[in-house]
Amino acid sequence: MYEQLQTDKNQINDIIDYFCNYSKEKLAHFDERDVGIKQIDFGIEPLSKNGIGLFNSLEKFKNRYEKYLSASMGARYFGFVTGGSTPAALIGDWISALYDNNVANLKESSSSHITLETLQLLKNLFGLHDAFDGVFVSGATMSNFVGLATARQWIGKHYAKDIANDGLQNLPEPINIYSASPHSSIYKSLSMLGLGKTSLKKVQTYKQSESIDIEDLKRHLEMQGNKPCIIVANCGTVNTVSFDNLKEISKLRKKYTFWLHVDAAFGGFARCSTKYRHLIENLEDADSITIDAHKWLNVPYDSAMHFTKHLRLQFEVFQNAAAYLDPDFSNDNYVHLTPENSQRMRALPVWFSLNAYGKKGYEEIVDRNCALAYSLGEKIKTSKKFILLHEVILNGVLFTLSKDNTTSQSINEFVSKIKETGKIFITPSLYKNQPCLRISISNWQTTQKDIEIAWETLNNTPC
Ligand SMILES: Cc1ncc(COP(=O)(O)O)c(C=O)c1O
Repeated sequence: MYEQLQTDKNQINDIIDYFCNYSKEKLAHFDERDVGIKQIDFGIEPLSKNGIGLFNSLEKFKNRYEKYLSASMGARYFGFVTGGSTPAALIGDWISALYDNNVANLKESSSSHITLETLQLLKNLFGLHDAFDGVFVSGATMSNFVGLATARQWIGKHYAKDIANDGLQNLPEPINIYSASPHSSIYKSLSMLGLGKTSLKKVQTYKQSESIDIEDLKRHLEMQGNKPCIIVANCGTVNTVSFDNLKEISKLRKKYTFWLHVDAAFGGFARCSTKYRHLIENLEDADSITIDAHKWLNVPYDSAMHFTKHLRLQFEVFQNAAAYLDPDFSNDNYVHLTPENSQRMRALPVWFSLNAYGKKGYEEIVDRNCALAYSLGEKIKTSKKFILLHEVILNGVLFTLSKDNTTSQSINEFVSKIKETGKIFITPSLYKNQPCLRISISNWQTTQKDIEIAWETLNNTPC
C-alpha cells in the first residue's frame, strides 16, 4: 500500500478523534461565522506528486480555503432557498460516507431497502398516497428532468412511439409544455431532453401574482386540441412563493389530455403543516412531483425526491441494460429508475432526520420559519426604506428599496454591501420587471433573534 495511505490507515483512530473535535469546535462557532464572504483569487495549484498526507492536507485546507467558506448552513443565510443540516442528518450523511454503499447494488446490501423505506416515510410526511413511487436524485433540477423525461415517454405512447428507444424524430406533433412561472431548471431540463426551451409555452399569471391564470391555460389547451401535452405547475415560485391552483388544473383533465408535473421543490413542505397545507391541496392529482431534500428538509447537499405515478414509464426511460445488472423492474431497483447509475445512500441522512424529529419536528420547523417570514414582512410594511412587493406567502419575503430610481444596479450594490457585513445573506431578483430583494427562510436554526439581526442589518446598511 502506498506509504501515505498506510500511515493514515494506521492512524485512523487519532484521525477520527481529531476530526470529531474539529467538527465540535466548528459547530460551536458557526453562528459567529460570516454568512457571505468576499472571495480572493485562489489560483490553481498543481497536482502533488507524492501527496502530503491527511493532516498536512487539513492544514493546507485551513490556510487556503476554510476562512472563505460561507456559513450557508447557518441561521441567517437567506439566499436562494437554502436549508442547513439537522444534527441527525449530518450524522446520517457521515454514516452514508462511512459505508459508501452504492444503492444500485440491490441484492447485497440493505441500502436499497433503506431508500425504499425512507421514501415511504416521506410520502407519509407529505401526505402522498400509495399510487406514488419515489426515487432520490441529486436535486430539484434532476427531479424536474426525470418528471419531464417520463412525461415525454408518456406522450410518445399516445402516438404509439417509444421515444426512449427511437428518439423524437418520428413524432407526428411537437411536444408542448405549458407553464406560467417555471423555475429556470425546467428550461434546462427541456434543453437536456432535446425538447428545446422553446417547447415551453408561457401561460399568463394572475395580475398581482405568479400563479397560473386558469382561463389563459384553458385557452392554450383549447388550441392544443386533443393532442397530449405537459403542464408544469409551480408550487411555489421563487419570488412570491405563489402556488398554482392544482384543484382547478386537475378539473381540466375531464376535457384535455395532459401530464401534470408539479415543481414543489420547497413549497411541497407546506404539506407538513396543518396551517399551510391548504396552499397545496390536490398535490396527489399530479403525475409527477419534485420536492427538494437539501432545501427545507435540512439534509446536506445533494439530495431531492422525485415522486411518480408512472414508475413503469420511468423505468422505460432510465433502464440501464447491462449483463452484470439485475434487469428486473421493481420499485427499489434504482439503477433503472434514475439518471444516475451508481448513487450514494442519499436516503440515510433523511432517514435519520425523519426518525429523530418525526412529523411534529418538521411541522415546527416549517411553522417557525413561516412565522419569521411573516414577522419580517410586517416590519417591512412599516418601513420608510423598503417596500414589500407582495404579501408574504409561506417562507418568502419579496421587497425592494423605496427610493426613487431603484435599478438592478442599485439593488446589486445594496446586496453587495449587505454581504460585506457578513451578518445576513440575501439575493437580488426581478419581479414583473421590478428589481428587488428576496429573503427565503428555510433553516432549522433560524429564530426571532436572527430576524432582529437581519432587520438591523437591512436598516443600517446604506443604499
Ligand atoms: C421551485 C424550484 N425548482 C427547482 C429548483 C432547482 O433546485 P436544485 O438547485 O436543487 O436543482 C429550485 C431551486 O431553488 C426551486 O426553487
